[in-house]
Amino acid sequence: MTVTRWMPLLLLWVCCHYEVQPSSLRPIWKPPQFPCDVKANESEVKFDCRGRRLRKVPDGITRDATVIDLSENYMPNITGPVFSGLLNLTTLYLNWANTRRGLRIGDNVFKNLTKLNHLGLTGNNLERIPGNLPPSVETLDLGLNKLQLDKMNLSGLTYVKNLWLPKNCYIWMPCGRNVTIMNSPFAVMTKLQTLDLSFNNLTHVPQGLPRDPHVSEWVMSNLRVKLEEEGEKYLPLCLEERDWVPGVPVLENLTHSIQYSRKTLFVLTEGYVKSGIFKLAMYLAHQRLMDENVDVIVLLMLEPVLQHSRFLRLRKRLCGKSVVEWPRTAAAEPWFWQNLRNVVRVDNQLMYNQTYSKYLTSR
Ligand SMILES: *[C@@H]1O[C@H](CO)[C@@H](O)[C@H](O)[C@H]1NC(C)=O
Ligand SMILES: *[C@@H]1O[C@H](CO)[C@@H](O)[C@H](O)[C@H]1NC(C)=O
Ligand SMILES: *[C@@H]1O[C@H](CO)[C@@H](O)[C@H](O)[C@H]1NC(C)=O
Ligand SMILES: *[C@@H]1O[C@H](CO)[C@@H](O)[C@H](O)[C@H]1NC(C)=O
Ligand SMILES: *[C@@H]1O[C@H](CO)[C@@H](O)[C@H](O)[C@H]1NC(C)=O
Ligand SMILES: *[C@@H]1O[C@H](CO)[C@@H](O)[C@H](O)[C@H]1NC(C)=O
Ligand SMILES: *[C@@H]1O[C@H](CO)[C@@H](O)[C@H](O)[C@H]1NC(C)=O
Ligand SMILES: *[C@@H]1O[C@H](CO)[C@@H](O)[C@H](O)[C@H]1NC(C)=O
Ligand SMILES: *[C@@H]1O[C@H](CO)[C@@H](O)[C@H](O)[C@H]1NC(C)=O
Repeated sequence: MTVTRWMPLLLLWVCCHYEVQPSSLRPIWKPPQFPCDVKANESEVKFDCRGRRLRKVPDGITRDATVIDLSENYMPNITGPVFSGLLNLTTLYLNWANTRRGLRIGDNVFKNLTKLNHLGLTGNNLERIPGNLPPSVETLDLGLNKLQLDKMNLSGLTYVKNLWLPKNCYIWMPCGRNVTIMNSPFAVMTKLQTLDLSFNNLTHVPQGLPRDPHVSEWVMSNLRVKLEEEGEKYLPLCLEERDWVPGVPVLENLTHSIQYSRKTLFVLTEGYVKSGIFKLAMYLAHQRLMDENVDVIVLLMLEPVLQHSRFLRLRKRLCGKSVVEWPRTAAAEPWFWQNLRNVVRVDNQLMYNQTYSKYLTSR
């Protein structure tokens, strides 16, 4: 009697764990180890604890672990120092960690994992993004949860490059309302490369997605440092990423920033010159030339762009110094920064080509 009752369960159990041998294409049965299979090679030590009916993070995960898969278990909560000491851990899968219901994650659970790069938290009914993620996390998977996307605080995720948020208001997990993401919560994520917001009952694509993350990073960690922190004169910048009040309409802040700055420095890349925001900013900067007779435009060519543009050719002829190009060789970089500091400081009118100076400066 007992034997027959156990049979179906046993069969199910084993079926989930056969592996296909590529050479013979014949499945071989391989009973799972409990609580986890450990596989290792030179580059990783993987604890495969997927689908083991675990109710908590098992003991005995050794400190050399680099990958842990705890998906598809029955863990109602993960709190306290369950992952403490796993300083080499780079990948942690907790997808459907509690297949029956939701998962409760304590604050600081992941905080000490200073090498954690990929965190999978799909399908856990999470209502908020876990706090205190280490800055090493670059890929965060939060699909099929119950996050309120219109009330997210993403200031703890500024280092994340790939953010997966699909199906947080979904047919299987309805939120029963329209979701409208306001106040550009993603703007703080300057490294963002991939953002998945599919199946969320969104009314529109959110505004204020970060620009090209490489350029933002270059602006924040190179341009800003060179102008504000180095050089003998302090040249304060007004940066969109840092200084704009979130939620204020872009036209207002753009106008405000251009109006109250001595110069407007356009960092030009292929993507940016094609954008409408570039044209708008350029229009506003030209307006100061018309209304106030001040030329505030400095063009920094991070990439060779606008090569066939008559606008750029004319600008180079009338005020060539206000067009600076990122040097091709590292040796020329110190000179570039010195030159840029001067160009930002000196009035464009003083840099006009002598031939045309009298036309451009007379009132
Ligand atoms: C072993 O190393 C390779 C990459 O070098 C990796 O793709 C593979 O998944 C590793 N892990 C295991 C447990 O074999
Ligand atoms: C962590 O990784 C480093 C470098 O790969 C290795 O030298 C060290 O032994 C690992 N730590 C543990 C506890 O295995
Ligand atoms: C976590 O879950 C276990 C098992 O259900 C329970 O005994 C324990 O009290 C829970 N801990 C917290 C902090 O909720
Ligand atoms: C993090 O590390 C500190 C110091 O090593 C330790 O006291 C704390 O319990 C750890 N926290 C977690 C959640 O692992
Ligand atoms: C967002 O979270 C950070 C901490 O991660 C906190 O300092 C900040 O005040 C929060 N902002 C809002 C609007 O709740
Ligand atoms: C999407 O929004 C509509 C209208 O507010 C609502 O009736 C519907 O239930 C929502 N869909 C989901 C999956 O929550
Ligand atoms: C939800 O959004 C759709 C599309 O934007 C709109 O037609 C509909 O009126 C909205 N419904 C509610 C309840 O706001
Ligand atoms: C953005 O606009 C608001 C309101 O117009 C203003 O208070 C704030 O100073 C502006 N910020 C910048 C950087 O211009
Ligand atoms: C100034 O304009 C003249 C006449 O167009 C041109 O030949 C010369 O190269 C210009 N000077 C500079 C520095 O661009």
